[in-house]
Amino acid sequence: MEFKYSNEPEQSGHHTAQYDQFYTRFAPIYDWLVKTLPIWRNWIGAAISEIQGPRVLEISFGTGYLMTQYAGQFETFGIDYNKHMAQIALTNLRQAVFKVSLQVADVERLPYHTATFDTVLNTMAFTAYPDGQLALSEMRRVLRPGGRVVMVDICFPKDGNRPGTFLTNAWKAGGDIIRDMPALFEEFGFEYTDREIGGYGSVHLYVATKSVEMDPKF
Ligand SMILES: C[S@@+](CC[C@H](N)C(=O)[O-])C[C@H]1O[C@@H](n2cnc3c(N)ncnc32)[C@H](O)[C@@H]1O
Repeated sequence: MEFKYSNEPEQSGHHTAQYDQFYTRFAPIYDWLVKTLPIWRNWIGAAISEIQGPRVLEISFGTGYLMTQYAGQFETFGIDYNKHMAQIALTNLRQAVFKVSLQVADVERLPYHTATFDTVLNTMAFTAYPDGQLALSEMRRVLRPGGRVVMVDICFPKDGNRPGTFLTNAWKAGGDIIRDMPALFEEFGFEYTDREIGGYGSVHLYVATKSVEMDPKF
C-alpha cells in the first residue's frame, strides 16, 4: 500500500520554536484534556505494560500524566522542550509524591551518557519533531544494548482502511509529521513490533529493541 508521508521541514529550528509557542499557550488546556479524555489516557497508557526497568527515560513527557502512572515502579527520568509543560508536570508529580528527575531539553541533544537507559518512552510526540533521524539516533544512543524504545504515535493504518487513513491525514493537515516509522526503525537497526491500538489503526504502539551487538555506526 502506498501512503503519502509528510516531508520534514527545511528549517528545523523554526519548526521546533513554532511548536514551542503553541505548547506555551496550550499547556494548561493540554493538562486538563489528558486528565479528562479517557481515549487519550488509554492510548498512551498502552505503553506502560511494555516498559522495562530499572532505568526509564520519558522523552516529551508533556504535563506528566503518563509518568504519574508508572514512576513509582522505576528509576525515572524525563525531558521536555517546553518549560510550561514541564512546570505543570512537576506539580502533578509532586502531588503524586513521586521522585523523578526532570529536565527541559531537546530530543535532538539528550543530556545523558550513551547506553544509560533500559527503556526510552515517547508518546504522541515524535510527529512533532522536525528531524526524525536525529531524534531516533539520540534515542538509540542513550539506550543500553538490548534496551527498547516504547512509542505511541500516529501513522497510517497498515490495511489502508478509510477512516484510519482519514484520521491520519487530519493529523497531517494539522501539522504533524507523519513518517514511515517501521522503515525508520529498520534503518537504525532496531527489531520492532507495530501494534495498532486505536483510531481505526491510526494510533500505533511500537516496541523497538536495540541490538545487543553494538554497531560502531551508532
Ligand atoms: C502532544 S504533547 C505529548 C505529551 C505526552 N507525551 C502525552 O502523550 O500526553 C508533545 C510534547 O512534545 C514536546 N516536544 C516538542 N518538540 C520537542 C523537542 N524537540 N524535544 C523535546 N520535547 C519536544 C512538547 O513540548 C510537548 O510537551
